[in-house]
Amino acid sequence: MGYNVAIDGPAGAGKSTIAKLVAKEKGYIYVDTGAMYRGLAIHFIKKGIKAEDIKGIVEACKDAEVSIVYENDVQQIYLNGENVTAMLRTEEVGNMASKTSAIPAVREKLLELQRTLAREKDVIMDGRDIGTNILPNADVKIYLTASVETRATRRYKELLEKGENCVYEEIAQDIKERDERDMNREIAPLKQAEDAILVDSSEMTIDEVVKTICNYCK
Ligand code: DC
Repeated sequence: MGYNVAIDGPAGAGKSTIAKLVAKEKGYIYVDTGAMYRGLAIHFIKKGIKAEDIKGIVEACKDAEVSIVYENDVQQIYLNGENVTAMLRTEEVGNMASKTSAIPAVREKLLELQRTLAREKDVIMDGRDIGTNILPNADVKIYLTASVETRATRRYKELLEKGENCVYEEIAQDIKERDERDMNREIAPLKQAEDAILVDSSEMTIDEVVKTICNYCK
């Protein structure tokens, strides 16, 4: 059994940035489970299936093979043999992932892959249901959150830096809708595990958050 750190929280709380830094500091492997849901989402988009078409999604799961490979310690997502890592981080893919992750067949598809990684390696795994569902016996559980305003502002600045056109209000609205979906779905909703440590990063620097989390880890 590997040493397992679970880090859950809403979209835009900085989970991946923080988890990557903690992984580096502690020598763990960083596992981004959201990227797996995004990989499957690309499969559905490519096939032209709508998120509302539950039957179609369930059927499409059968011919999707998602795998994870580490190249120079960086996680790469393969969908049916194709490296789709560069396509994962768009709003379209994120929204498709958020909607389809509420479907049991989609979650079942990825569950074993996630548990196997944690069994074999020392990992810090980020997602929505890692502490509550995937790794209930994780050595450390963190629930990382931040206010909607903080998360929207960070995302807004990120997009501006990339030179993309964006409207703050739309980003904030999108974050609220994603929270609503992720927290209120029937299966494995986002919530703080009873034994998770709450870290609110609204008023903290990245460095402070990393230090706080590292202090709880072996
Ligand atoms: O963390 P992210 O934005 O890359 O995740 C995309 C979507 O995938 C998120 O809105 C909900 C879903 N997801 C999930 O249901 N369970 C996880 N463990 C990780 C992500």
